[in-house]
Amino acid sequence: MKEILTAIQAPDATAADFAALPLPESYRAITVHKDETDLFEGLAGCDKDPRKSLHLDEVAVPELGPGEALVAVMASSVNYNSVWTSIFEPLPTFAFLERYGKRNELAKRHDLPYHVIGSDLSGVVLRTGPGVNAWKPGDEVVAHCLSVELESADGHDDTMLDPEQRIWGFETNFGGLAELALVKSNQLMPKPGHLTWEEAAASGLVNSTAYRQLVSRNGAGMKVGDNVLIWGASGGLGSYATQLVLAGGGTPVCVVSNEQKAEICRSMGAEAVIDRNAEGYTFWKDEHTQDPREWKRFGKRIRELTGGEDVDIVFEHPGRETFGASVYVTRKGGTVVTCASTSGYQHQYDNRYLWMSLKRIVGSHFANYREAWEANRLIAKGKIHPTLSRTYPLAETGQAAYDVHRNLHQGKVGILALAPEEGLGVRDAEFRARHVDALNRFRGVQED
Ligand SMILES: NC(=O)c1ccc[n+]([C@@H]2O[C@H](COP(=O)([O-])OP(=O)(O)OC[C@H]3O[C@@H](n4cnc5c(N)ncnc54)[C@H](OP(=O)(O)O)[C@@H]3O)[C@@H](O)[C@H]2O)c1
Repeated sequence: MKEILTAIQAPDATAADFAALPLPESYRAITVHKDETDLFEGLAGCDKDPRKSLHLDEVAVPELGPGEALVAVMASSVNYNSVWTSIFEPLPTFAFLERYGKRNELAKRHDLPYHVIGSDLSGVVLRTGPGVNAWKPGDEVVAHCLSVELESADGHDDTMLDPEQRIWGFETNFGGLAELALVKSNQLMPKPGHLTWEEAAASGLVNSTAYRQLVSRNGAGMKVGDNVLIWGASGGLGSYATQLVLAGGGTPVCVVSNEQKAEICRSMGAEAVIDRNAEGYTFWKDEHTQDPREWKRFGKRIRELTGGEDVDIVFEHPGRETFGASVYVTRKGGTVVTCASTSGYQHQYDNRYLWMSLKRIVGSHFANYREAWEANRLIAKGKIHPTLSRTYPLAETGQAAYDVHRNLHQGKVGILALAPEEGLGVRDAEFRARHVDALNRFRGVQED
């Protein structure tokens, strides 16, 4: 790995130099183990500890197939999907790998007793497989996490609809929380030159997801002036949703759980912020019964902040705990757009508020190729900024995932893979200087 890192840090290394680098036989990677999927049996989800299930292992370099690329990973990030993987919920990810492995001879590579996880990376292309023309060794890249086969017409218009759609590093092996990663070459996108490796690795999954969910016609199709209620507005998805609403000329109504997070939202430019803990909303009276009076109180508070208007869009992901309130507070004809159910996926809402008020519920999941590319372009143009708050070395990924699981983090949490320290990889210092305040907004902000 030393030779690879030296080449990456050499200012004049050429594509030929990278192509001539010998590949190691193995690399360090964060894994879960197939023989440990019952590790947390009998524990509540919140008591399952990713520090126990995530391992740093030396694993074999996978064979490179047609249309694929092997990337030296400088940095990665923790996404909530890695938290789900680490606590084996809602099911162990080995089920995905087994199914993928049955697809063909080459896909068998993915079905292993360990799963190398991680759905973000920034780094440098080391090798490309047959049929790859757009990328070459030495290219500095980020990767989005959509893996598709495109053999069925179902996915030709919107690649998320491909029947063989998988999230790389979650439903495939050889993910980004490692020193090397295997991707399909059409996952690659240019690394924005003004960002460090760790900043560049922070955004791919959440920014693309928020972009489809909110901006794309496949999601809520936000327009100028829309009021958008954003749950977890300083979190992974929410910190990008807040920026997208502001950049698109809308008004974010940010919901967070403490004053520190409220301040982060204000620093991004949001004016309407609700501290759900300080205001004490209790949408559920008990495990089975919701409290519509609390929905009303929440709706009234939103109107106070918007000058009497309801929200056009609700950016949903907490799920069970908030969904009833989300449906209630959406304006007549508005849209609840959901991509997750962190607090439980059996939702309950009062359907009268949906049909009588002609509201829509839209399901959204990651982003298609084009949406991911457009989302990355916004980062490269400095219109949306990474919301990295902290980085950890690869060996401490378990702790990083623990922090995200316990909601102890802000924005995004980064992981240094081959990058020996923070702050490396900037190629356009001048452009960076123009955005440095926005890039540092989340840095060093820790939970009280
Ligand atoms: N389908 C997809 O493509 C996709 C993509 C990305 C993420 N996701 C899913 O989306 C969810 C959020 O991901 P993320 O990266 O944004 O995670 P995150 O960084 O942990 O942020 C989520 C935020 O939501 C808020 N929240 C959590 N539980 C809540 C509850 N019960 N009620 C109200 N607010 C709550 C918290 O903010 P406050 O404490 O400040 O309120 C938390 O910081 C996860 O389940 C993840 O798996 C799905």
